[in-house]
Amino acid sequence: MTTALSKEAQKGSLALLAGLTRFLKPYKKQFALAGVALLVAAAATLAIPYAFKQMIDLGFGATGTGSTEHINLYFIALFGVACVLAVATAARFYMVSWLGERITADIRSAVYSHVVSQSPQFFETTQSGEVLSRLTADTTLIHALVGTSISMGLRNILLFIGGLVMLFITSVKLSSIIIVMLAAVVLPIVLFGRRVRKLSRESQDRVADASALAGEILNAIPTVQAFTQEHNEARRFGTSVEHAFATAMQRVRARSLLTVMAILLVFGAIVFVLWLGAHAVLEGRMTGGELGQFILYSAIVAGAIGALAEVFGDAQRAAGATERLLELMSVASPIQSPARPLPLPPRTSVGAALALHEVTFHYPSRPKTNSLASMSLDVPAGATIAIVGPSGAGKTTLFQLLLRFYDPQQGTITLDGVDIRQLDLHALRNAIGIVPQDTIIFSANAMDNIRYGRMDATDAEVIAVAKMAAAHEFIERLPEGYASFLGERGVRLSGGQRQRIAIARALLKNPPLLLLDEATSALDAESERLVQGALEAAMVGRTTLVIAHRLATVQRADRIIVMEHGRIVESGTHASLVAQGGLYASLAALQFSLH
Ligand SMILES: Nc1ncnc2c1ncn2[C@@H]1O[C@H](COP(=O)(O)OP(=O)(O)O)[C@@H](O)[C@H]1O
Ligand SMILES: [Mg+2]
Repeated sequence: MTTALSKEAQKGSLALLAGLTRFLKPYKKQFALAGVALLVAAAATLAIPYAFKQMIDLGFGATGTGSTEHINLYFIALFGVACVLAVATAARFYMVSWLGERITADIRSAVYSHVVSQSPQFFETTQSGEVLSRLTADTTLIHALVGTSISMGLRNILLFIGGLVMLFITSVKLSSIIIVMLAAVVLPIVLFGRRVRKLSRESQDRVADASALAGEILNAIPTVQAFTQEHNEARRFGTSVEHAFATAMQRVRARSLLTVMAILLVFGAIVFVLWLGAHAVLEGRMTGGELGQFILYSAIVAGAIGALAEVFGDAQRAAGATERLLELMSVASPIQSPARPLPLPPRTSVGAALALHEVTFHYPSRPKTNSLASMSLDVPAGATIAIVGPSGAGKTTLFQLLLRFYDPQQGTITLDGVDIRQLDLHALRNAIGIVPQDTIIFSANAMDNIRYGRMDATDAEVIAVAKMAAAHEFIERLPEGYASFLGERGVRLSGGQRQRIAIARALLKNPPLLLLDEATSALDAESERLVQGALEAAMVGRTTLVIAHRLATVQRADRIIVMEHGRIVESGTHASLVAQGGLYASLAALQFSLH
């Protein structure tokens, strides 16, 4: 990702904003309406100085009749123009703000739904804080662009061009002088703006760094406090924030310099030309009204240039944001459903059959170490297989491959005889229930947490699986029963309770293949007995692979697979393996206290 980032950054232009078009396209009608309002408002603004001149020269001036009717007429006309300006400006504001909000919302949803479908590999290299900052900070920059800058930019381009034309109509000589001076002024401003853009991007990155850090630490507060690292963590975040501050200040300084430069140069040029104009009036080559008109048009043109410089800065920031968002959107998950997925054979009453053939796999981040090496395994439908082995043997990795979080580099995995790469990803995962080692509890109530297994399940179905998973009793005893809020990440439950919720969730799916990553470390004897009972209930009528740490589970299995260094080193029943006196025998002697 980072390489793509830097490559793009070198292009460094507003052309990057072209990537936004697909989000703008659906709203052609609204853009057209906003454009009409914008044109009307700009025309009204440009009419004001002219009306003003008419008022001075014809209403008061020596050349005019100076009659009351004329004065009344021109004041009414001026007010009429103001009315048009008011309505058109409000309409433009409404349309453009609507577009800004709508498009930002669309982009946020599109980025999020893209990110949540990424494979775990993506999340190994991308920090969630980074994604969050894309979703918030970067979309906010785009919001500013669509909701304000585009309309400001268009309006000021119109005012600039219109004002300029009117200046020339008023006085060709003075206008020519002003144009030459403006040309000399704009070039340095544009060049300097480039630098501001680069600094702005760096500043965004530093903010993302800080929020990534905070995100990680906030998820680990108990550990942080147990190791009394609060002050260190606060200091670490402080350093990160200071870093972001320093980078932001660099940008602010550059931007301040840009502002000084722009205003001084632009207004310097205008004041000089006005000075010439004042002399022209004194010498009788111009009327007072014409000079007044010229002053107002100069103010409009100067204001437009100032606003355009500002818009340019915002647009550059938005270009950076767009670039980062599109980059995020362009990451394709390496795990995809095939274009023409094969169907799974109809489900049998005993569960699914599973087979691995010569599967070799290494994690993308560890290309030199095979986590599974030429692993072959045949699991008939309905069997219960216990997988044991020391920590790091590759047991959890096997489950990750079955769920197709990763694809093996070699070999095939079949479910009911179909290569899992030929199956629709959702069909595959719907056929598998998993109780992971680290159970995830969402910040919701008990009912909804279990229902996560199958969103359309009725309350009665949820309660039925909770009973099977030995979770019903403790949930009933919670202050509000199934409606009790379980706290963020389930902080209000014990480890054993969390695990039984996870078992109930997996059972609700009623999958033909069940994967259990048994965890005993968090459990006391009573919870362990309850979880054990729940697991046994869960295994009925389906194929089960259980990463087992308990002798009780292992002894009940139809077959035991012993893994070490990504290979199956022994396989058989408890009795036969103990008799072999190998790795299993020594693990059994330790009562499987290894994970
Ligand atoms: N996401 C990952 N990226 C790189 N290596 C990993 C990853 N997850 C696990 N590993 C490595 O793969 C090997 C097998 O891990 P794992 O399957 O978790 O073992 P266990 O048998 O304890 O469940 C270990 O050497 C581990 O360090
Ligand atoms: Mg593991």
